[in-house]
Amino acid sequence: MIELTTVAELRAHLDAARARGRSVGFVPTMGYLHEGHASLVRAAARDADDVVVSIFVNPLQFAPHEDLDAYPRDLDRDRQLAADAGATVLFVPGVEEMYPEPVATTVSVAGVSAPLEGESRPTHFAGVATVVAKLFNIVGPCRAYFGEKDFQQVAVVRRMAADLSFPVEVVAEPTVREDDGLAMSSRNAYLDDAHRTAAPALHRALAAGAEAIAGGSSPDEARAAMHAVLAAEPLAEVDYLDVVDPTSLESLQSFEAHRGRAVRLVGAARIGQPRLIDNIGATVPAAAD
Ligand code: PAJ
Repeated sequence: MIELTTVAELRAHLDAARARGRSVGFVPTMGYLHEGHASLVRAAARDADDVVVSIFVNPLQFAPHEDLDAYPRDLDRDRQLAADAGATVLFVPGVEEMYPEPVATTVSVAGVSAPLEGESRPTHFAGVATVVAKLFNIVGPCRAYFGEKDFQQVAVVRRMAADLSFPVEVVAEPTVREDDGLAMSSRNAYLDDAHRTAAPALHRALAAGAEAIAGGSSPDEARAAMHAVLAAEPLAEVDYLDVVDPTSLESLQSFEAHRGRAVRLVGAARIGQPRLIDNIGATVPAAAD
């Protein structure tokens, strides 16, 4: 695995690789890598000859009160994990390399960015879309791998890539979880023991909602089932729990148009200091005939 820090070096390296007929897989990350990231790198390594992993804690996607400065970092461990999972190129640009000038041009994706995370973090997805657009332009034609863990992020990136004709195929991979159901996240590092024990309640709430839907519940009943589970965990403070259309991310009031189709259960909760997000899929039972 080679390590590059400048845009020019990465472009030159990948252009040469593609000129030799090699395909490129790309896994953008903010580092502090875990098994969830590793699963994306392994998926990319299965499909592509060269696998680029970028590590860049993107200031643009953090609001002023958020955890930019505290965001966990461990580049030595990240190098090892990325190489073991099959990365051939590690791209670690500094902030000055990515943003040499104050940013005047941003990318915002209307619609899918607005609900859920967009309500709690109004500037977040423009920050994500802008840095992912830059990274797609730097990496060039590739398949890019994202985790379903950040379900709305995948929807935003897919829409941006389609709307702006990026030569990038966006691939989504399933969420990797701890044994107790907690979705792996770099931010889990913030959880102390008591909050770590409480944290799987978010996944349990989503699972209860999915079970309710499989049993014929309405969207409101599924939401109530999720709230009941999280209400039983005193260390969890709910931000939102919802049942949404998996493409538009619109909150569903009825399942009539979704009979026999997939819906997504999504949730965010503050568990002590960190705010955790998670989601799972469910299929609405087909109408009885
Ligand atoms: P980061 O949080 O580091 O996540 C990088 C990628 O790993 C994202 O696609 C995310 O969905 C995926 N991921 C995180 N936890 C996962 C898990 N438990 N299972 C599967 N995949 C998981 O997401 C970002 O960084 C940034 O917003 C980024 C896209 C890099 C733009 O700055």
